[in-house]
Amino acid sequence: MIICKTRDEISAAVAELRRQNKTLGFVPTMGALHNGHLSLVKKSMSENDCTAVSIFVNPTQFNNKHDLQTYPRTVDADVKLLEETGADIAFVPSVETMYPEGLDNVTESYDFGFIGQVMEGAARPGHFNGVGIVVHRLFDLVKPDRAYFGMKDFQQIAIIREMVRQCNINIEIIPCPIVREDDGLALSSRNTRLNEEQRRQAVQISQTLFKAVGLVGEKSVDEVKEFVISTVNSVPLLDVEYFEIVDGYSLQTIPSWNEAEWVVGCITVNVGDVRLIDNITLKK
Ligand code: PAJ
Repeated sequence: MIICKTRDEISAAVAELRRQNKTLGFVPTMGALHNGHLSLVKKSMSENDCTAVSIFVNPTQFNNKHDLQTYPRTVDADVKLLEETGADIAFVPSVETMYPEGLDNVTESYDFGFIGQVMEGAARPGHFNGVGIVVHRLFDLVKPDRAYFGMKDFQQIAIIREMVRQCNINIEIIPCPIVREDDGLALSSRNTRLNEEQRRQAVQISQTLFKAVGLVGEKSVDEVKEFVISTVNSVPLLDVEYFEIVDGYSLQTIPSWNEAEWVVGCITVNVGDVRLIDNITLKK
């Protein structure tokens, strides 16, 4: 595996692959890699000749300084995992490499419209703009044929698709299923910040979502929404920030089950100072 840190290094590595006419898949990450990330890497490896993975904790997408400071950083272990998994290139840039102009002088600004204003967009002002900026810059450097994103960050995929559309970028965006622990908790780099009791209770997030699937049709959209919020909030250490039942394509909330072909329930829960997100397809 080639490890690239600078713009010149990644550009040279990619140019060499292109010279050999190889297809390239790309998995952008912020590191602290787990099996969710690795499932994306494996999918990319199965669909492309070569796979590049970036590890970069992107400051411009954190609207909360504490969250940025406490974000887990395990680069050495990450690089080892990528090597073992069989990735071809690890791109591990510094903040200066990604933002040579300095973080205070970053000027790109995206308007994602409605999909950027709801749920995570409402809760984390500037977050999706930062995601759009860094993913666009990474795409420019890595120039992949395909890029892989997890459905765990459901709204992020809609944002990336919109960014690619607005900027006329010719990269195929491939959504990948959520990888869960045996008990159902969606894998997340932030799970490592939960203490034992928080971790034990956090399982109720996914378990409640699974139960909600069984209520579709039998109960109204509002009743299912109320069920999920009250059930999760009844767990002492869990605090629902939002739960929305939305059209999977438009992200608009729906008044009734027949209103959309694909219906997704999206939840964010605060467990102490750890913010966990999850979602589930309620109907497709
Ligand atoms: P990060 O949170 O590190 O996630 C990297 C990729 O892994 C994302 O596409 C995310 O959806 C996926 N992922 C995380 N947990 C997963 C799980 N349990 N199952 C399946 N996929 C999972 O998302 C980001 O980083 C950043 O916003 C990034 C796109 C890298 C831009 O900075």
